[in-house]
Amino acid sequence: MPPERPIGIDLGTTFSAVAWVDEAGRTAMIRNAEGDLLTPSVVLFSDEETAVGKEARTATTVHPDLVAEWVKRDMGQPYYVRPIRGQNVPPEVIQSCILRKLKLDALNALGQCNRVVITVPAYFDEPRRKATADAAELAGLKLLDIVNEPTAAALAFGESLGYLSSDATAKHEMTLFVYDLGGGTFDATLLRLAPGDIRTIATDGDVQLGGHDWDLRLAEFVADRIHKAHGVDPREDAATMNRVLTAVIDAKHTLSVRRRAVVRVDVGGRVIELPVTRDQFQELTADLLERTAFTTRQLLAAAKMRWKDVSRLLLVGGSTRMPMVVNMLRQLSGLEPDHTVNPDEAVARGAALYAAYLMHKEAHGGQHAELTITNVNSHSLGIEGIHPETLRKTNVVLIPRNTPLPAKVTQRFATKAESQRSIVIQIMEGESSLPSECTAIGRTVIRNLPEGLPKNWPVEVTFEYGANGRLTVRAMVPGTGQSAVLDLERAVNKSRHETTPAAPHKTAAVSPAAAMAAAARADEFKSMVHEALEGLSSVDLEEMKSAADTIWAENVDAEASPPPPDGGDAASVLDAPADRGRKKSERAK
Ligand SMILES: Nc1ncnc2c1ncn2[C@@H]1O[C@H](COP(=O)(O)OP(=O)(O)OP(=O)(O)O)[C@@H](O)[C@H]1O
Ligand SMILES: [Mg+2]
Repeated sequence: MPPERPIGIDLGTTFSAVAWVDEAGRTAMIRNAEGDLLTPSVVLFSDEETAVGKEARTATTVHPDLVAEWVKRDMGQPYYVRPIRGQNVPPEVIQSCILRKLKLDALNALGQCNRVVITVPAYFDEPRRKATADAAELAGLKLLDIVNEPTAAALAFGESLGYLSSDATAKHEMTLFVYDLGGGTFDATLLRLAPGDIRTIATDGDVQLGGHDWDLRLAEFVADRIHKAHGVDPREDAATMNRVLTAVIDAKHTLSVRRRAVVRVDVGGRVIELPVTRDQFQELTADLLERTAFTTRQLLAAAKMRWKDVSRLLLVGGSTRMPMVVNMLRQLSGLEPDHTVNPDEAVARGAALYAAYLMHKEAHGGQHAELTITNVNSHSLGIEGIHPETLRKTNVVLIPRNTPLPAKVTQRFATKAESQRSIVIQIMEGESSLPSECTAIGRTVIRNLPEGLPKNWPVEVTFEYGANGRLTVRAMVPGTGQSAVLDLERAVNKSRHETTPAAPHKTAAVSPAAAMAAAARADEFKSMVHEALEGLSSVDLEEMKSAADTIWAENVDAEASPPPPDGGDAASVLDAPADRGRKKSERAK
């Protein structure tokens, strides 16, 4: 029986791609049903059906109100930016429709498709990562893990240079700077690549900056020109503005190879032609490019490195094809940007390599692993405390950003009042000292403290952040026997994956029965989404998740969801005065 073949999915803002590791151990891209390597990350909720990809993308100019796109930008938010068919839809539901299509395409190509690795920008925070894991669950995919896009790109690069092969020992260690400018996000990451070993040094980025912003700038410019010259403002009609947007994307791509392009757009039945030059485009978007340059410089400074310490500057993401990006990086670094790996495919290929590695590790019980991947946390993790002098709420960081994972930190706090009976531990993610500027990602409460406990009684808080993205927070009040533990985890690497018996292997040849069964389940899922959008039922994420659990029963093992966070009106902990505060930090082994 052939081994189970996992796939790697690059779930992009504009395009998604799928890869696997073939029988020869090399990565290969999987074409979708339309025969393309890239699937537009667009979903059409028409009267009849829910369509994903090219078909949905074509509909954007006709039915913009029925189409959801750039959904990745809204991950972590309760709802997609605008209602669809009058319904507020959680972004993960839309993303799951995309993942469904990718799964079906992989199934058609490989005859089986079960376990996946999905990539996310390194700069994604916890709620966005969790939403991605939820989307996979909704789509009936078994998530092996979520991996950072630059790590995946570095893996693909490592593969192309032979760093992952068995005779890689002769290769030198090198430092990579991955500049990843996609359609919706920007990531800058420094990594160390050694044979069978990828180590993230530091990462920074912007989850609201990508090629789409370049498109919007050009679209505004074109709309303005049309308005001035012809007295019609395309911005007043969504369908016309979508045609402008489609036309400027074509022009943008042309400007990557030519100095001049013509934007052709149908406005009210009249085709208007507007020339644009590369210089104009560059001028219009100079501040966007500068934002990436700023982050690039900042990252290098954060890692206390200089360009001379960087061996290769890797370009990832379709937007790095813009000459302005290459020129800026050349100037900034003095290095020649590296195009060794295809910027559209690197992330999916790397995800496939990581998936294959995880399956190998699972099969061999962690023995004989040929690959070590060390990540850092992209955002600081801490708790909300009260400043002892100002008495203002403050975000006390326990694990600063760019700490190699796994990491374990213990810090001592103190109660803020006499006879305090309970303590809230509010867990925060973010860099600011103001809790309002950070994201609350969980909370736990210590209750039933003994009466008469003096003010400033010590409270020990320990953060343990595993390499698998699981954060465990332990808080205890010495001498009282009271403590609390909170396990914050994404839906990945749950113990259920470790205890689930391996699924029966299917044949590697395309199995029509499997494809048909999956298609039927996909239809069931689509009609569920469709019904919700028709207003027949409300779009409730938890409800949909449990319905999806039933639909994909053979793929998703039922597991009770964790109880909601403990409520209560308990008092916050008080940050300890400096002389009593104690912070232990260690690399957990
Ligand atoms: N030749 C080109 N010139 C300029 N831009 C291009 C070119 N080819 C692709 N792009 C742009 O690259 C972007 C898509 O890149 P990519 O597929 O890497 O992004 P993504 O993975 O969908 O997004 P993200 O990684 O941000 O989630 C789009 O904005 C597209 O217009
Ligand atoms: Mg991408």
